[in-house]
Amino acid sequence: MSHRVPGVVSRVKGGPVELTTIVVADPGPGEALVRVQACGVCHTDLHYREGGINDHFPFLLGHEAAGIVESVGDGVGEVAPGDFVVLNWRAVCGNCRACLRGRPWYCFNTHNAVQPMTLTDGTPLSPALGIGAFAEKTLVHAGQCTKVNPRVAPEVAGLLGCGVMAGIGAAINTGGVGRGDSVAVIGCGGVGCAAIAGARLAGAAVIIAVDVDARKLELARGLGATHLVDSSAADPVVAIRGLTGGFGADVVIDAVGRPETYTQAFYARDLAGTVVLVGVPAPAMKLELPLLDVFGRGGALKSSWYGDCLPSRDFPTLVDLHLAGRLPLDGFVTERIGLADVEAAFAAMAGGDVLRSVVVL
Ligand SMILES: NC(=O)c1ccc[n+]([C@@H]2O[C@H](COP(=O)([O-])OP(=O)(O)OC[C@H]3O[C@@H](n4cnc5c(N)ncnc54)[C@H](O)[C@@H]3O)[C@@H](O)[C@H]2O)c1
Ligand SMILES: [Zn+2]
Ligand SMILES: [Zn+2]
Repeated sequence: MSHRVPGVVSRVKGGPVELTTIVVADPGPGEALVRVQACGVCHTDLHYREGGINDHFPFLLGHEAAGIVESVGDGVGEVAPGDFVVLNWRAVCGNCRACLRGRPWYCFNTHNAVQPMTLTDGTPLSPALGIGAFAEKTLVHAGQCTKVNPRVAPEVAGLLGCGVMAGIGAAINTGGVGRGDSVAVIGCGGVGCAAIAGARLAGAAVIIAVDVDARKLELARGLGATHLVDSSAADPVVAIRGLTGGFGADVVIDAVGRPETYTQAFYARDLAGTVVLVGVPAPAMKLELPLLDVFGRGGALKSSWYGDCLPSRDFPTLVDLHLAGRLPLDGFVTERIGLADVEAAFAAMAGGDVLRSVVVL
């Protein structure tokens, strides 16, 4: 049997998204059908519809989701119907070179559903990040379902499925932020604010939020920033050095992903400090730095895909920290919207009005 449900599709590069009927198959071997309860609107969805990720239109957008497993296919043991799960785009294989070396976040053989979801005329859809959850139901690989404590609100839990995990992980997993460190975060949208919350969780002493939008800086303060820098008015490199005794921060996180913000991050870190790039650059962007500075300034230049997370390890822990009152994940949910409001949510995101709009079903 297949299921006809509403879903949000991006048909053409740059065109508005469309709420239409999609067809979702019953799960085959290794797959799970999930009834989506909530799905956040991430900047990466906008990157997809702008053609910034690839040209495999039409896309079924949405990938920061939580929901209930409705049914599972043959051979699925890890989840069962009725389980409350957060969807992830890193279902690791356990067998590739990276997995066997104990670095599963570099797994190059991650699992997705095999059966395509389609439009009603049979056109296959490319699900965003292998998920596609701006839909009442979605079909994923069972390994993409991570069980977490069902006491957490779905609209909060779903955010761990992408942007919030990426930000927290950029600070803790990739950046290795530790007790007493100084941290600067450039770009305080959902991802950057999550990096700030992660830095606080890890015990950073100085947490500098940098953005060109004063509203985002206020949100960053609420999530743990100790200092705010409006980089539309002040040079962030000078400001960050000034707030760190002239040295620069131990860890600087670029949560924008542009050559100019990366260059700011590069020069705002302490000698031997770490730069973490978590914002996703557009394909045409190029970086130019004096190679002598790359050499002479030592330290580490890292990028962070999905916060170097392992969903099965990190999602349940972060949900438990939230439920214990130590991680204010509800602070990321600016508005609850319907499936028909995704295009408006993109405009709100571009206008800087929200940290996260979350589709609630
Ligand atoms: N690495 C990953 O795994 C991963 C996961 C999710 C999202 N992302 C990426 O992270 C980035 C941020 O995502 P988001 O959802 O937080 O987006 P967002 O649009 O909510 O936030 C971006 C923020 O950057 C600020 N900004 C823009 N230009 C700036 C500049 N020059 N200097 C300082 N601040 C500036 C904006 O004011 C805004 O607050 C996107 O590129 C997104 O695709 C990466
Ligand atoms: Zn693997
Ligand atoms: Zn995302």
